[in-house]
Amino acid sequence: MGRFDDCKLQVLRISQRLSSEGFFGSKSGSAGNVSMLVAGENAFVVTPTRMRYDIMTVDDICVVDFELRRIEGERKPSIETPMHLAAYKSRADVSAVIHSHQTYASVLGVLNMPIPPLFDEVTLAVGNIIDIVPYALSGTRELHDNVARKLANRCHCYIIQNHGALCVGANLDQTYTLVELLEKCAAIYCHALATGRPVTVLPENIVAQLHAAVIARQDREIARKNSAAAESEKDAREPEPGR
Ligand code: 13P
Repeated sequence: MGRFDDCKLQVLRISQRLSSEGFFGSKSGSAGNVSMLVAGENAFVVTPTRMRYDIMTVDDICVVDFELRRIEGERKPSIETPMHLAAYKSRADVSAVIHSHQTYASVLGVLNMPIPPLFDEVTLAVGNIIDIVPYALSGTRELHDNVARKLANRCHCYIIQNHGALCVGANLDQTYTLVELLEKCAAIYCHALATGRPVTVLPENIVAQLHAAVIARQDREIARKNSAAAESEKDAREPEPGR
């Protein structure tokens, strides 16, 4: 088994699950992209560009470094690879990124409406707002810069105006759940807005408390990663027994 195969398999499985459940907009298309950081390395595993998920295999998944050089894989990485890199570079707590084209989040994307804090369990997972990343053409530097700027709010879900959504998390399973939570929240918000009646949001003091817990969780994850990196550096410096 290759050095990156475990990460590649995880990315493949989650991508195929997202596709078969319709989170990429169509179940037979190639929209959306998924990536995962390789622990302890300035490298990540990412889905290839323009390839249907149902025929994708482990060998189709790409590995790139932080200079976006291809380390492994014959295929061209997703056109949004720099957007994934922006997430890893600007958010040390992030180790997995999913860019989806999910339906209800996209409804709010064409209405250019962020989702306010509506439910405490969602706010605790996502942060105090599901904000809108301003539109720019797919795959462009402008879009990737817009995403990088928004990530500074330290939340976990974003709606990309007239395009789709972005979820960032500490691992792929958690990020998959964020995609589901985003869709649940977006669907409920759309249905509630459609009634024309006022939508109630969580009280400010509760939101502040929950958002502080989100930041504290991120800080713990950053500390965990830093100490794992220090441990492996120490192991690399120590001579092997018997040498
Ligand atoms: P890729 O096929 O290059 O990943 O692009 C899909 C997409 O969703 C662009 O935003």
